[in-house]
Amino acid sequence: MATQEQLYSTLDLDLSWSERDLPERERTKHVHRLHPYLGKYIPQLVEELFRRHVPAGGRVLDPFAGSGTTLVQALESGLDSVGIDIAAFNCLLMRAKTDAHDPFRLEHDIRDALARFERGEGRAGPSSAYVRTWFAPQARRDLLRFRSLIGDHESRDVLRVVLARAARSARLTPHFDLDVPRAPQTEPYWCHKHRRICRPVERADHFVRRYALDTLARLKSFGRLRQRRDVHVLHGDARTLALPGLFDAIVTSPPYPGLIDYHEQHRYAYELLGLGDLRRQEIGAAAAGTSLPALSAYVEGITSVLAACRSALTRSGAVVIVVNDRRDLYPEILERSGLRLAERYRRHVNRRTGRRSGEYFEEILVSRPR
Ligand SMILES: C[S@@+](CC[C@H](N)C(=O)[O-])C[C@H]1O[C@@H](n2cnc3c(N)ncnc32)[C@H](O)[C@@H]1O
Repeated sequence: MATQEQLYSTLDLDLSWSERDLPERERTKHVHRLHPYLGKYIPQLVEELFRRHVPAGGRVLDPFAGSGTTLVQALESGLDSVGIDIAAFNCLLMRAKTDAHDPFRLEHDIRDALARFERGEGRAGPSSAYVRTWFAPQARRDLLRFRSLIGDHESRDVLRVVLARAARSARLTPHFDLDVPRAPQTEPYWCHKHRRICRPVERADHFVRRYALDTLARLKSFGRLRQRRDVHVLHGDARTLALPGLFDAIVTSPPYPGLIDYHEQHRYAYELLGLGDLRRQEIGAAAAGTSLPALSAYVEGITSVLAACRSALTRSGAVVIVVNDRRDLYPEILERSGLRLAERYRRHVNRRTGRRSGEYFEEILVSRPR
């Protein structure tokens, strides 16, 4: 049997799609583009990992489920799934994507809220200092008015995601800085993305309209593909949540130290929707930095999660982790979690667009209980 050191990672050409093999519209098909999310993996990778490492009809867990790529793909691949995330907005987004919506109810709710919005119904109501700072007056009124129309529609999670997506586009941010905006942009500015002078956004009504209809179309097209399988979203800290039952595999991409703040990237949604903020329990948040104590807290955190996952695995179950482990932290994490590396491969990632464009390698670590 190969020793841990001999498990050099080999480049897996079958997972190293070029832009031509796998264009953006395929990577962001149906619900995968319901709302932007920084730090997700692509559904085609998850599909192939399921094919290789999960028995047909099995049950998978993603303890860092994020925007729900694993759960959505599980529904498409005919698997049961459970996803955990510490960030309330991510859980809301996952529920909107994976709930088994009645298509008639969904269409009715979205069109009803939109029609009332177009007729000028709804009230703006009170707003937080953040909302007053980051939206122009008309955009703010549009968003708050749409919020008041969500009410108790059965499809309210979907309508809340529409509101969040419209808010994201309507913030007073320069077009080239949508991921991590620094300060509100209140004057016209030179736009590096469009290479011309752009003006800050003044209204949000066109975004509400566009995203309401786009969301409806995306959910309907996923509704035709998904299989009837169980799916559960759990909101909380994967270190301490009780795991429901046994799993045939864990498939996940963990946060990486110092890279992304998963609550902060959707701050507008927390502010507008009044969601609870558990950022202090985020593992590896960018705000915590990459000092030695921060890295050791990260190792501790991921180790606790994987150790809990290990004890919820069936006898032949695998833990499949997608990570760009530049700091070589995972050999120690796996060892301390009671896992043994069984296979390891690399894929070439070629990101052609966006501010974080460029190429890099991502590793897939397949491990099993010792
Ligand atoms: C790399 S992202 C996962 C993205 C996901 N694979 C996707 O495609 O959308 C890591 C996720 O871990 C979550 N996270 C961080 N600390 C956590 C904790 N203590 N418990 C559960 N989730 C946590 C973050 O909120 C983030 O959504």
